[in-house]
Amino acid sequence: MDLFRTKSVEAVRADVGDGVGEGETHEGGHGTGRLRKRLSARHLVGFGIGIVIGTGIFTLTGVTAKNDAGPAVVVSFAVAGLVALLAALCYAELASSVPTAGSAYTYAYATAGEVVAWVIGWDLFLEFALGAAVVARGWSGYVGNLLDLPPSVFGETSTVNVGAAAIVLVLTAVAVLGIRESARVTGALVVVKVAVCVFVILVGAWFVRGANLTPFVPPAQPAEGGSGLSRPLVEVVAGLEPVAFGIGGVLTAAAVVFFAYTGFEAVANLSEECRRPARDVPLGLLGTLALATALYVGVSFVLVGMVEYGSIDEGAPIADAFDQVGLGWAASLVAIAAVAGLTSVILVDLITIGRIGFAMGRDGLLPPAVARVSPRTGVPARITLLFAALVLVLATFVPLGTLADLVSIGTLFAFLLVSLAVVVLRRTRPDLPRPFRVPFSPVLPVVAAVACLYLMLNLSIETWLRFLAWLGLGMLVYALYGYRHSRVRRGARAEPLPH
Ligand code: ALA
Repeated sequence: MDLFRTKSVEAVRADVGDGVGEGETHEGGHGTGRLRKRLSARHLVGFGIGIVIGTGIFTLTGVTAKNDAGPAVVVSFAVAGLVALLAALCYAELASSVPTAGSAYTYAYATAGEVVAWVIGWDLFLEFALGAAVVARGWSGYVGNLLDLPPSVFGETSTVNVGAAAIVLVLTAVAVLGIRESARVTGALVVVKVAVCVFVILVGAWFVRGANLTPFVPPAQPAEGGSGLSRPLVEVVAGLEPVAFGIGGVLTAAAVVFFAYTGFEAVANLSEECRRPARDVPLGLLGTLALATALYVGVSFVLVGMVEYGSIDEGAPIADAFDQVGLGWAASLVAIAAVAGLTSVILVDLITIGRIGFAMGRDGLLPPAVARVSPRTGVPARITLLFAALVLVLATFVPLGTLADLVSIGTLFAFLLVSLAVVVLRRTRPDLPRPFRVPFSPVLPVVAAVACLYLMLNLSIETWLRFLAWLGLGMLVYALYGYRHSRVRRGARAEPLPH
């Protein structure tokens, strides 16, 4: 069937200009030009941590420890980190073998065919564009609160959220300047937030009391679940009753804190701009996750060690824990880290969305003219600006707080497909050079896929319905444009666009 036509790995390789050195930007890519290859493993870890460590660790730790897992929230973070690691191994195999800005979208194109690729691309817009807009509103509210700015222009109730608009505009300017410039800004923000996490761990460790850590896994008890559409899908499908604490609670918390790990796969989208992807992309992906997991486990451990889990503050757990042990001034450090975290998440989201749009434009599923790489900066400036404009409108005018779970479901869906793509490509293309191989394939990729599906099922029915509606809208756009303009489907290597 036409709809399921795949793009060959060789065609993907030809597009990305495998073996093309730094400075090559304008040729190739069938008129869209080539991205400049300027990144190393260090930059990739910077971008990875830039997008991963945001609000999750500073907020979700408190809610989940208090309501679901008790001190064992540390285990929840480790479990969620492990699931993320499994997915990262799959990304590492594909991105080192076929380094492309499209990442999951392109892997789907090479394995499952065009329509699935489109669905994933559309899903990734949701993850990164909605992610950027949600976080921009969060940024505005947080900074507004810190600086005592009027909620009418900085709060969730504002009609025109000036704070969100301002941060999106500034970071868009950074994103289109160039990838190295963006790496520098991200790097500075990352140093701040990592330093604060290390501070929290080292100083907090002095105040850890054994008594706060027992019982480590509080006994299971029935919980108040959501009702109606806010119930997790798995409860309805499997007829489960909601539980708090116990092993069930620890797993529920793992599903929630998984959000704190989302975003690392942006590293795979940057693989096309990497000088030595075979070595650096696996390092970038696994380095990001190793560092994030270590910091998250450390921070959550000192939190539950410092404060008895029932007395943890849900809004600002870490700042409040320091307050409770008489170090109230540490709250401002945590605030600085949170602002740095939110800022870098938005920046890397904007950069990534441009790469995905670029890859889809190169394939003709979006208009190639808007996906063209700027010869001056070597980045896909037009499509980045286009998506940034969308993010700007969303962030400025739409209260999005309730849509954060859509970002998680979008991420998990992409992970699921990427895990399966590893298994499929091992069968269909055993000959491909694979600088990095997922160990114990197909077992690990299948476990990764099942784990992602399990976490997806833990999201609410409402989130599933919204997600399906979004995919439905995507199919409409595909029918109206992508289906007719697809380069692969027309069976032609598209003509280069006139310059
Ligand atoms: N992983 C990011 C966070 O925790 C999105 O905020």
